[in-house]
Amino acid sequence: MYLFKKISTLRQFLEHYRNKNRLIGFVPTMGALHEGHLSLVRQSLETTQCTVCSIFVNPTQFNESTDLEKYPRTPAKDLTMLYEVGCHAVFMPSAEEVYPPGLDTSVNLDFGALAQPMEGRFRPGHFHGVAQVVKRLLDIVEPGRLFMGQKDYQQFLIIRYMAEALSLPTEVVMCPIVREKNGLAMSSRNQRLSPEQREQAAALYQALRHASRWAEEFPPREVERKALEQLHQPGLEPEYFQLVDGNTLQPVEDYESPASIIACAALWTGGVRLIDNLILKG
Ligand code: PAJ
Repeated sequence: MYLFKKISTLRQFLEHYRNKNRLIGFVPTMGALHEGHLSLVRQSLETTQCTVCSIFVNPTQFNESTDLEKYPRTPAKDLTMLYEVGCHAVFMPSAEEVYPPGLDTSVNLDFGALAQPMEGRFRPGHFHGVAQVVKRLLDIVEPGRLFMGQKDYQQFLIIRYMAEALSLPTEVVMCPIVREKNGLAMSSRNQRLSPEQREQAAALYQALRHASRWAEEFPPREVERKALEQLHQPGLEPEYFQLVDGNTLQPVEDYESPASIIACAALWTGGVRLIDNLILKG
């Protein structure tokens, strides 16, 4: 496995694969890696010929400075995990490498209704930061395939939209959510929770599972109300629970007309914000 900190040396390395028409797979991350991240790397290893994983805690997507400061950083452990899984190259750039002074890296795309609800509503500016860093990293790596987790479903849709709108030569692939034994979706931020808080946080997945059953009986708004009611318990602060169209992210009014329906939720526990979702249809 090769570790690159500079764009120029990473590109020299990739040139070799590109010259031989080898498919390059890319997994962008913010580090503090877990099995969820590794599942993306594995999917890339299985379906491409060269896998690049980036580790960069992108300051422009954090809407709260304390969240950025407290974001877990475990670079040595991350490199061991990537080495053991068989990743070919790791890109760990500095902020100056990603955002050199004088270079305009902003992405001027209107994500419209995709960026407005849910994460867009509670984390203003977040998706512009995500789009900015992913576009910049795609310009550097130029992969044929980009692997993103369903865990951040709205992020996946935004990046897929960006790839289409800018006609990028990259296929955006969605990978399933990897969970702890108790159902809690794996997340770097889980490291900031105590074992008790992790147990309680599994309520988020339970509410999603219940919603899937309630949807057989109750209309969408009633399902959302019941799920929020279940999540209103001491130690948990739910932010939203919504049944949305899996393509447009607009609230669904019934279960028949949309081709795809996702239940998406966010809550706070122990000062940490967690998100999760479950595909109900499609
Ligand atoms: P990060 O939270 O580190 O996640 C990196 C990738 O791993 C994302 O595509 C995310 O959806 C996926 N992922 C996270 N937890 C997962 C889980 N439990 N199961 C499956 N996949 C999971 O998302 C980001 O970083 C950043 O916004 C980034 C795209 C790197 C841009 O900075």
